Amino acid sequence: MNDRDAGQNRQTDYVRIDVGVLIVGAGAAGARTAIELAEAGVEDVLVLGKRGHGDAHTTWARGGINGALGTHDPEDDWTIHAADTLKEGHFLNDPEKVEAVTRQMPDRLRELDEWGMAFSRTEDGEIDQRYFGAQSFRRTAFAGDHTGESMLDTLVERARELEIPYRENVMITKLVSDGWTCYGALGFDMDTGEFLLFDADHVVLAAGGYASIYDRHTSRDDENNGDGPALAYDAGATLLDMEFVQFHPTGMAVDEADPDWAPWSGRLVTEAVRGEGGRLYNADGERFMERYSPDQMELDARDVVARAIATEIDAGRGTENGGVYLDISHRESEFIRERLPRMSERFAALGVDMADGPVEVAPTAHYGMGGVEVDDDGQTDVENLYAIGETMAGVHGANRLGGNSLAETVAYGVVAGSHLAARSDGAGAIPESLVGSVVEPHFAGLAATADTDGETEIRDLVTELQHVMWDHAGILRDEAGLRSGLDAVADIRRRADDAAVGPPSSESFEFAVDLGFMLTAAEAVLRGALERTESRGAHYRTDHEERDPDWQCNIRLERADLGRMRSETVPIGSPSEAVQAALDAGYELDYHQLE
Ligand code: FUM
Repeated sequence: MNDRDAGQNRQTDYVRIDVGVLIVGAGAAGARTAIELAEAGVEDVLVLGKRGHGDAHTTWARGGINGALGTHDPEDDWTIHAADTLKEGHFLNDPEKVEAVTRQMPDRLRELDEWGMAFSRTEDGEIDQRYFGAQSFRRTAFAGDHTGESMLDTLVERARELEIPYRENVMITKLVSDGWTCYGALGFDMDTGEFLLFDADHVVLAAGGYASIYDRHTSRDDENNGDGPALAYDAGATLLDMEFVQFHPTGMAVDEADPDWAPWSGRLVTEAVRGEGGRLYNADGERFMERYSPDQMELDARDVVARAIATEIDAGRGTENGGVYLDISHRESEFIRERLPRMSERFAALGVDMADGPVEVAPTAHYGMGGVEVDDDGQTDVENLYAIGETMAGVHGANRLGGNSLAETVAYGVVAGSHLAARSDGAGAIPESLVGSVVEPHFAGLAATADTDGETEIRDLVTELQHVMWDHAGILRDEAGLRSGLDAVADIRRRADDAAVGPPSSESFEFAVDLGFMLTAAEAVLRGALERTESRGAHYRTDHEERDPDWQCNIRLERADLGRMRSETVPIGSPSEAVQAALDAGYELDYHQLE
């Protein structure tokens, strides 16, 4: 959708809302930022969510949240957590951001506990912690396998106690920016179709990541479409390391022709299944991780396990439904039901008892390690614009540890919230010049997009883009594939202007807006992946299979003239002495303790 061309001369009505801090996104990152602000006495805050209060993608986060509490392994501490995070990020992480998260996580977990989060507990009543991939110690606190749901319930309850204003069913479509300063945001009410202008002193993007630009993904279809990164980029902010997309090793592999199973294709089978002892087998009955990673086995880093599974499937050792087997049936059924209640229920509803035999799994797009470049306070290079949670880049480098995404949401919610609470300045009212050059043309463009009778269904274009990304920028990449992926994205962009779209309150309108975000995110992934001529973490180039020390840097993408993306590389900082000492000590997960 091109708002500047589409409806330049149309007059459109909109409702104007003034607010101090506008938080776009009502998952854990947005909620925790709002709580920090409210506790510091900042009242002029509004949290926007695309869904009802308490319903955000966070609820789909399952296996746990990391923090070096040392419940079972007292030698663990935050420096080892930081060292594991850097090592598995292949040292592309920003060490300061990693330390900002890992240092505060024990406090964040205790705080969630105080606020009533239903953590699973040891017999002594301590917060229990389980093994998760590539972590030296049991560090992942959890609530069964519904950790995200319990955490968001807790944060929403706390936000209600603090009477934090929340508006549901609002989709933000553009930020009001002159490229240097952000003055607010534009969007619409998804129920009524009413256009909305938020005139804000500060905007916090806590709008998730971009994994749904892929065909198989673990998010709900209308979430993680790249809204956060694309909104920030359009406003003049810089994207970082977008080529690093995490493919979770275990998404559901299903019979696509079976209507009961088909909707579950790619949905998450939590890493907690492997953390609790689940084993992977190929169709020949071989426990193949013995070949790929004899020491860390099924709990090696996600990129390693995902590539191993993909290799087995490509070599013809996959199951009928294009996956491998994940088996935890050697555990007692009571144990499985207690530690993995949601997984057990889901498979039971489909007629499979996890205590009786294996389930089928295959890799699925799960998380964007890249995102918006921010400083240590979570602020982008556009004044007054912040990006946190999965929208920001920097914490995870080339590959994320399971359990670190929920950690980052609450940790950076506190970082950004406390920074904002200490600020007394703000953007002030939206300048009239921007009303004429940004606000009105954008609403006119939205109005022109609605109720159009184009050649193509918008949903079909979304699906086509997801297939392009899966085929051209998936687990294994090469130059020819990435280049033709870029051509395909440009072609979809052209055809998007001639799509059939309903009124602003319709699903197709939401997807029309989403498609614009997805195209930006897709182009950024493809460009970054093309430029990075090495293999590192989740980015694997079959034409450059080795890690290249010259690529020990981040790739920034900025808007250049004529809508082009300009890239440059930037060096990475060094960890603190304490974290370097933990790295030098060489801690590592010993899988065989689990057996
Ligand atoms: O597998 C999982 O439960 C996912 C956790 C995560 O991505 O942090």
